[in-house]
Amino acid sequence: MSDLDLVMAAFADRLRTARHVAVLTGAGISAESGIPTFRDAQTGLWSHFNPEELASPDGFARNPALVWRWYAERRVKACAAQPNPAHYALAELAKRVPHLTLITQNIDGLHQRAGSPCVIELHGSLHRARCTVDGSVHTTWDYDEELPHCPNCGAMLRPDVVWFGELLPRRALEMAWEAALDCDVFMSIGTSGVVEPAASLPRVALSHDAAVLILNLEQTTAARPPLFTISGKAGEVLPRLVREAFDR
Ligand code: OAD
Repeated sequence: MSDLDLVMAAFADRLRTARHVAVLTGAGISAESGIPTFRDAQTGLWSHFNPEELASPDGFARNPALVWRWYAERRVKACAAQPNPAHYALAELAKRVPHLTLITQNIDGLHQRAGSPCVIELHGSLHRARCTVDGSVHTTWDYDEELPHCPNCGAMLRPDVVWFGELLPRRALEMAWEAALDCDVFMSIGTSGVVEPAASLPRVALSHDAAVLILNLEQTTAARPPLFTISGKAGEVLPRLVREAFDR
């Protein structure tokens, strides 16, 4: 058995007997659907685009049309993309364990399209807009308008996403934190773990001895239970993990 096989088998054992599985996902889980991550040196969004300009309240105040164009392009790409085997494996996992909380930093909506119920979106969604004045949230708007306007009050809408320097939606963060505190298994998938407060969730889970899996592409150092690390593609590893835990 390879080291990978051993880690897979040991973590699959924990999944099989889990009471509450909490899962945190990041851009890496959608990479195999063709959606770029943020920090990859070659293809990452933040190596081509300036977050100050495109993902901050000041950037939006300076040039709202530019910001809207960028999010509109990302929304069109997300709509054209398909969920990949990793998204489907998590939707399947939710049916196999007593309780699963899915927390995502992604705004692409691919978990929902793969059939995951009740996704906690920490950073908002490309598929919603919010009024800059009355705070109302909209799931459709005039996509042809350069600067979409609120149907209630006529003020400018903005993408309903979290920008740098902004607070996360309070209830979403509370639910994520509660899940990290309550779970007995935690999985961090496809996230570089550098953006707080999401980055703290695995530590919260570890602090009460939950089994924690960190899965991303980077080479990882060996870890000892309750911490497990796997370096690989989420679209390959997750379906195998779910099969290994429940179909053997
Ligand atoms: P990053 O781009 O920082 O990290 C992506 C992670 O996914 C890296 O650790 C990669 O190794 C891993 N990865 C890439 N392809 C993968 C694959 N096929 N399978 C498994 N892992 C893979 O993205 P996030 O951690 O999601 O915030 O970034 C966090 C936040 O920073 C984003 O939500 C965004 C950004 O600024 C806001 O916009 C508020």
